[in-house]
Amino acid sequence: MVSKDQVTEALDSVIDPELRRSIVELGMVRSIDIADDGAVDVTVSLTTPACPIKSHFEQSVATKVGALEGVKQVNVAFDVLSDDEKQALAGKLGRGGLPEGALAQVKNIVCVGSGKGGVGKSTMTSNLAAALAADGNQVGVLDCDVYGYSMPRMLGVEGKPPVTEERKIIPLEGSGGVKVMSVGFFVEKNEAVVWRGPMLHKAIQQFLEDVEWGELDYLILDMPPGTGDVSITLAQLLPQSKFLIVTTPQPAAQEVAARAAQMAHEVDLEIIGIIENMSGYVDPSGGRHQIFGEGGGQQLADKLDVPLLGKVPLEEDLREASDSGKPLVVSNPDAPAAQAIAQAARGIIAHTPKELPTMQAPAPAAAPDRGAKELPVIQ
Ligand SMILES: Nc1ncnc2c1ncn2[C@@H]1O[C@H](COP(=O)(O)OP(=O)(O)OP(=O)(O)O)[C@@H](O)[C@H]1O
Ligand SMILES: [Mg+2]
Repeated sequence: MVSKDQVTEALDSVIDPELRRSIVELGMVRSIDIADDGAVDVTVSLTTPACPIKSHFEQSVATKVGALEGVKQVNVAFDVLSDDEKQALAGKLGRGGLPEGALAQVKNIVCVGSGKGGVGKSTMTSNLAAALAADGNQVGVLDCDVYGYSMPRMLGVEGKPPVTEERKIIPLEGSGGVKVMSVGFFVEKNEAVVWRGPMLHKAIQQFLEDVEWGELDYLILDMPPGTGDVSITLAQLLPQSKFLIVTTPQPAAQEVAARAAQMAHEVDLEIIGIIENMSGYVDPSGGRHQIFGEGGGQQLADKLDVPLLGKVPLEEDLREASDSGKPLVVSNPDAPAAQAIAQAARGIIAHTPKELPTMQAPAPAAAPDRGAKELPVIQ
């Protein structure tokens, strides 16, 4: 008969997709009961009763425990962590508060950052989001640049987001059907935001926890320039996010971008890849000019051992499209810059899961021994 330890071990590979840790480690396995007839009852404690990913947990638990020898049936039940338990969990995670499931249905979170300002983070964010949406994905964009917000303008959306009875903020819909949230929706036009430290932290936290993002394949975060407070806050709040680095081709920018990578490593965020922006300019007569130098994106990608997802040329229509609120990938998908960004979006798709990751990826299979011969099958 299967033992409790074996069941616990099997459950260790079921992870909470928001917290990216095992439900065993998080103390979310309330009970395990094993009956003589091989039926196993598992109760999982959730942070919120309305947890929208219950069925994913149910499936993962049933699959993992059901695979054990001697298990005939798996019954999965749920209850809710008490307030004390939730606090203990928050303490364990070293964070101020737990998400109440607002991001529970978000399959992938990608932070677009760079060490340096003005390299095209926001342009990439808005165009990548629109490209991912054009490819049939549900996409949200969170403008984390509280002081220098630009997503409302680049995705052509303004207004006051409605608030539900449960006090959840509904994101507005921008170009290409992308859900957008930005501090720009809450301040008067051109008003400067003068929040500091704790307010900033609170604003970002609220955008993550109190916004009704719903089901998303991708939530793309437009980061402010630099490697400051906001990046650290985000890394703490979103341990599951991946980091996409935008750099220009010159060695100096690449070194600054490497610092952003360093920060991502320090806070334990996975780097999904590099986009080299402003990578060459083609003049109207077809001549190529390397205005910002050459090769920095590839060098950085090699150094970090991550893919170079795209090289986006300097193009006037890319800027114009952003200024007019309709990303180039939507307004002119055939433009070279739009194609380069669409290719980068495909790279993101290739490097991210399609489903909510409630199960840890199985350990990579041992490489086949190329020298070994297959045994002949005896008929
Ligand atoms: N490949 C490009 N071709 C032409 N213009 C570009 C390109 N990439 C970005 N731009 C323009 O450069 C300016 C800066 O880009 P963007 O705002 O995206 O940079 P950023 O990294 O988000 O800046 P910040 O650090 O201030 O947030 C914008 O006017 C944008 O339209
Ligand atoms: Mg920006």
